Amino acid sequence: MSDRTASEVVESVSTAFERAFGSAPEGVWSAPGRVNLIGEHTDYNGGLCLPIALPQRTFAAVARRDDDRLRMVSAQQNGVSEVALDDISPEQPGGWGAYVAGVLWALRRDGLEVGGLDVVVDSTVPFGAGLSSSAALECAVAAAASDLHDLGLLDSAEGRARLAARCVEAENDIAGAPTGGMDQSASLLCDEAAALLLDCRSGATEQVPFDLAATGHALLVTDTRAEHALNDGQYAVRRDACERAAATLGVETLREIAPADLPASLDRLDSDEERRRVRHVVTEIERVTLAVDALRAGDLEEVGRLFDASHASLRDDYEVSCDELDVATATARAHGALGARMTGGGFGGSCIAIVPADRVKEVAGAVAAAFEEHGYTPPVSFAVVASAPAHRDA
Ligand code: GLA
Repeated sequence: MSDRTASEVVESVSTAFERAFGSAPEGVWSAPGRVNLIGEHTDYNGGLCLPIALPQRTFAAVARRDDDRLRMVSAQQNGVSEVALDDISPEQPGGWGAYVAGVLWALRRDGLEVGGLDVVVDSTVPFGAGLSSSAALECAVAAAASDLHDLGLLDSAEGRARLAARCVEAENDIAGAPTGGMDQSASLLCDEAAALLLDCRSGATEQVPFDLAATGHALLVTDTRAEHALNDGQYAVRRDACERAAATLGVETLREIAPADLPASLDRLDSDEERRRVRHVVTEIERVTLAVDALRAGDLEEVGRLFDASHASLRDDYEVSCDELDVATATARAHGALGARMTGGGFGGSCIAIVPADRVKEVAGAVAAAFEEHGYTPPVSFAVVASAPAHRDA
């Protein structure tokens, strides 16, 4: 993982902009990746989730153009990606540029006046780690577009929610990943030292204080480096199963199923697969409420138990874990974590653990040793704090 500071990246992305486009950018904006504390695969079911913003961010150096072209360069990719705003589609510009172009496409479709841009991006969010590097990219570009085109959408929670919605459309309609929206809301709406309680049915948000250091704990993220992709079909298959089950049960989303009605609802479903998917979603939404209560009561042991239960449900009922995630979480628990779970879409990616601060090294070392023993790619572990949402850096 990159440990460059924000000011180092601001400087290098500005220099890269001058090199690519021959003049200085008008500014630099950045947006964070995220980890979700709990509430996984609930967002597209109208449920609750509880993400924090990571210290790792994607930076965009941007300048307006006087035509309607978009030119994009990335420090992590070769070459220039280029498209005219009117030509943006799922086919054009394709690749990583779709996440940038998609944002401008969605803002224009929303009736907002957005012109051509030159963009250079650089990121400290690891790619493919399930930490929402794609949402960070979309939201950094959305923040830049809002400021440079005087849309004023960063100035209020409503404006930020509107930007988040456009970033979700960019990802769904142009980049082709049928994701649910938590990541973009996290990147634009999370606060420092807080988790964002996001109600995906009403759109309501609430900041829940989250400062593990204050009680001598840390949140340890382990990137398992196991392959992970959200546009490879499995995510869509899970989402379809939920929508089918909701239709059978005669509800708009699975959020409508109260925990007390779960057994009766499960009896009405056709397949064991749908029963397990629904059981995960309904119990997971309840675990979010319980975790928020426990955090507010300062009961980290209970939060840890809920992490463990969430992981078991994602592994056994939702079937989105993998061997690396199961080994990492079990090892963390065995070495003193209060609880551990996979975070994000699953099928690889990262896990999180609540760990006493003085055992962070031990837990990270134990996970690395367990991976070596199993012959897995070496994992990357790092402690994180709840960080700031998308903003202008320079
Ligand atoms: C991915 C998606 C989110 C959410 C999570 C699972 O991160 O982008 O919308 O569905 O998976 O909770």
